Formats: sequence, structure tokens, C-alpha cells
Amino acid sequence: MTHHHPIRIGILTVSDRASKGEYEDLGGPAVFDYLKRVLKTEFEPIAHIIPDDLSLIRQNLEHLCDVDVCSLVITTGGTGPAPRDVTPEATEAAAEKLLPGFGELMRSTSLQNVPTAILSRQTAAIRGRSLILNLPGKPKAIAECLDAVFPAIPYCIDLIGGPYIETDEQHIKAFRPKSAAKS
Ligand code: MTE
Repeated sequence: MTHHHPIRIGILTVSDRASKGEYEDLGGPAVFDYLKRVLKTEFEPIAHIIPDDLSLIRQNLEHLCDVDVCSLVITTGGTGPAPRDVTPEATEAAAEKLLPGFGELMRSTSLQNVPTAILSRQTAAIRGRSLILNLPGKPKAIAECLDAVFPAIPYCIDLIGGPYIETDEQHIKAFRPKSAAKS
């Protein structure tokens, strides 16, 4: 498939306090800066900041996938064990398939820096031609978690019928089987 328009990437900050303006959202901008640094493919970000509300998160995820046609939707926040943390539940509710390997790898990577990494319930999922990926809310965790999983993201998006995404190999070398790589 050829895509003449920039691909779209959803960036969803999930935080009661950031959505009320009680503090500045650092997570959303950290995700955007990471993508700008790592992607060679032109992309249009669609960013929202919403509170920790299950049905609102689910509606936003579904809209970003189905209406905005984002190839990738990255959430930050709401993955912990506190009563208001429901981002993984909303992701599962919007999902057609779960990809538990993403959460497993991000947790084991973060575990090398903080023992509380095991408190994050972050996951990833497919909805239509979109990959949804949860990240913890801590800005420090963002580049660390994305560095771990990003090499597998372009091929995942190939497999679900999305656009061919290229990364800057100085930052992230995307892995594709030889038969799938366009040279
Ligand atoms: N991952 C990294 N790399 N650094 C961190 O500080 N904090 C953990 C975990 N993952 C953390 C991390 C903690 S203490 C929790 S409770 C969850 O992420 C918080 O996820 P949330 O902010 O999405 O609720």
C-alpha cells in the first residue's frame, strides 16, 4: 500500500491532575519528542489529555483508531495499581487482540532501574489497523520503555495492514524479516 499523506499517531495522556491543569503534562510532549527523534516517516500527531475514566479512555482510543485512523496510539499514565488507574482495562475493552509481549518487555527493562516497575500493568493491543501501546506516566519511563519495544513496532504495523514506517537507524534499528524489508 502507498501512503501519500503523513501517517497519524495518537498521543493520549491519561491523568486526572494533568487534565484539570493541576500540573503540566510532561508525558505527552515526551512521547512526541521521542517520535520526532526516532521516526524518519513523516507523521501527524493527534494529542489529547483526559482524566482517568474508563469509558472516556475507551472512547478516545476507539476514536483515534477508527475515525482518526492512527496507525499507532500511545497512552501515558494510569497503568499502576491505584484505584483510578484503568488505562490497561480501557485498552483491553477497545482491543481486538492483546500483545502481552510489549508489557512483558517494558516491565523487565524498567525493572533494571526500579523495583516498582512490576507495579505497571501496561499492555499493547490491536484494533483494526492500529497498534495501541500503554506507557507508564513517569516521563523518565517513556524513552526507556519505547527504546525497548520500538524495534518491533514497524513490522507489527506492517502485519496489521498499516503504512510502512521507517526509523532513524542511529536511534532505533527496526527489525523486519528479510522478506518484509524494502531496501
Ligand atoms: N517505569 C520506569 N521506567 N520508571 C518508573 O519510575 N514507576 C513504576 C511503573 N513503571 C516507574 C516505571 C510505578 S511506581 C508505577 S505505580 C507505574 O509505573 C505507574 O504507572 P502510571 O504512572 O501509568 O500509573
